[in-house]
Amino acid sequence: MDIHTYLKEKRELIDSYLESCFNVPSEPRVLHEAMKYSLLAGGKRIRPILALASYEVCGGKANDIIPYAAALELIHTYSLIHDDLPAMDNDNLRRGKPTSHKVFGEAIAILAGDALLTEAFSMLSNTKMQNSKIKIQNCGNSLSLNTHLSSHISHHSILRVIHEVAVAAGTHGMVAGQVQDILSENSKPDRDTLAFIHLYKTAALITASVRIGPILANSDEDALMALTKYGENIGLAFQIVDDILNIEGNTEELGKPAGSDEKMKKMTYPALFGTEKSRQKAEDLISNAIDVLKVFSSEAEPLRKIARYLIKRRV
Ligand code: IPE
Ligand code: IPE
Ligand code: MG
Ligand code: MG
Repeated sequence: MDIHTYLKEKRELIDSYLESCFNVPSEPRVLHEAMKYSLLAGGKRIRPILALASYEVCGGKANDIIPYAAALELIHTYSLIHDDLPAMDNDNLRRGKPTSHKVFGEAIAILAGDALLTEAFSMLSNTKMQNSKIKIQNCGNSLSLNTHLSSHISHHSILRVIHEVAVAAGTHGMVAGQVQDILSENSKPDRDTLAFIHLYKTAALITASVRIGPILANSDEDALMALTKYGENIGLAFQIVDDILNIEGNTEELGKPAGSDEKMKKMTYPALFGTEKSRQKAEDLISNAIDVLKVFSSEAEPLRKIARYLIKRRV
């Protein structure tokens, strides 16, 4: 299995689904345009891909859970729109395009973020949509997706997923991390605060994305625990790599401004440990993540390869 082909196929599946959800304009038109602008601007779609991959590890078929996986991308995109606002990181470029507030103004950017967050929960809980057949394009082929609530996905599992995602994104997850990130600007970095920021602002949603698979597949506790540890390890590594790329990457390649953490005096891993030690930490976390997958055999190969890809990524 070539990981780049795998990621591309899964990304196209998610992209096509997201496009199909936003192809009927709503009013006011500017809200619809702003949501689409950020959501369909590209992006690695790593959170939905992790949900699909972990569901497959647990014996499921990716096509059966696309709306749940895609909902994660709505939440992630909302977090990026708000993260870039002048009151937060004050960035002008995201996913290679001017940030939402630069194009639509701050008020609409804030509201587009609010709407994406709320839509995500509508998507997760919409049994009508889950029952519909959705035609999407995947790798140039037209594919009819039966995103029905198949008998192996119970309402109980869906409720668990909704709660899981809400906790990971909210007061006890991503928002808490974002608040601590802002509070810690210009402060001397310390190990505990830094771990809190990264675990909450980034690892929480990534871990929830991975956990969705075993929850929807009704897997046993051992599988859920192994995948949770995998998620936590890659989640923290993901943000450390983001910190390193902010120093070593270039704006054009990243599609967002390089060097901004230094400018904003952000509390980052490289600011505390230096780049080399930070890279070593990220590598150790990736090794741990691969190690906990030993309870699975070849079916976990995509997750192992995703972990290795995350440390090597340039974007
Ligand atoms: C960027 O996330 C923000 C972080 C949480 C580090 P991604 O690196 O997943 O951004 P996209 O979705 O590919 O643009
Ligand atoms: C983003 O963290 C975390 C969230 C959006 C929740 P950063 O502010 O470090 O990410 P980038 O570098 O702007 O993508
Ligand atoms: Mg930020
Ligand atoms: Mg930022």
